[in-house]
Amino acid sequence: MGELRSRRSVLAVPASNPRFVEKARGLDTDAFFLDLEDACAPLEKADARDTVVRALREGGWGGRVRTVRVNDVTTEWAYRDVITVVEGAGADLDCLVLPKVTSARDIHWLDTLLTQIERATGLDVGRIGIEAQIEDARGLTEVDAIAAASPRLESLVYGPADFMASLNMKSLVVGEQPPGYDTGDAYHYVLMRILTAARAHGLQAIDGPYLRIRDVDAFRRSAARTAALGFDGKWVLHPLQVEAANEVYAPSQEDYDKAELILDAYAHATAVDRRGAVMLGSEMLDEASRKMALVVAGKGRAAGL
Ligand code: GLV
Ligand code: MG
Repeated sequence: MGELRSRRSVLAVPASNPRFVEKARGLDTDAFFLDLEDACAPLEKADARDTVVRALREGGWGGRVRTVRVNDVTTEWAYRDVITVVEGAGADLDCLVLPKVTSARDIHWLDTLLTQIERATGLDVGRIGIEAQIEDARGLTEVDAIAAASPRLESLVYGPADFMASLNMKSLVVGEQPPGYDTGDAYHYVLMRILTAARAHGLQAIDGPYLRIRDVDAFRRSAARTAALGFDGKWVLHPLQVEAANEVYAPSQEDYDKAELILDAYAHATAVDRRGAVMLGSEMLDEASRKMALVVAGKGRAAGL
């Protein structure tokens, strides 16, 4: 996977609320998205576009990944979201999040529209990335084609709330196991499917929101499950969730140190001793161990460990 921007914590900010937008500047997240979709009421969407453009142009976002979630391609809002935001603030925008993606065609539409606007306004063509939300049964069945649909793609984002609704899941708590499902993890298949499609195409995989925002321990548990699988980060909805996400999606200091040690030991073993397998303490290392260590070391370096 190439060098992608760090997205351990991705803050969701309702674009219709200028107070929240202002507050977002002070939060230590890797990324944020100004939301024109589900956190923005239909009657507020037009004004919210202007708030988005102003907020991006004003700057003050540090090194964070600056993202806007537009409405999905089946809505009457989507095209104007893209045109207003990118014409107004394309130079101050890193990515667009496209929700409810159900086929590669949705991504092609956005890619083409972005290229047209970039050409018309003199922006670098192809610089603005796309993040695709996979949040219903159709999106999941098409996930490989979606992941391959454009070089602009940077991540696949799991949308648990819409997904649970799309499956008719008998549950009202987003991120928790559905009541009555006592064995295993009801979301394991979905998460692994998205993660595998993302990795097959060099993309990041981002977990969606956990809605009981005051229960930080539960957020941590929910994040730890996807971090363990390999997900790169998670949406955060509240300041309380930010620190937890930044911690959970980075390796522990101990694991990071061990990963660097493995890389050193294995480099020495292959280059100096000309051996492909080597002992480090009581563990045997080979080329696959080096690859695993590279992942942990990469996440640690990105987190500044
Ligand atoms: C996010 O968009 C979700 O549906 O969970
Ligand atoms: Mg959704």
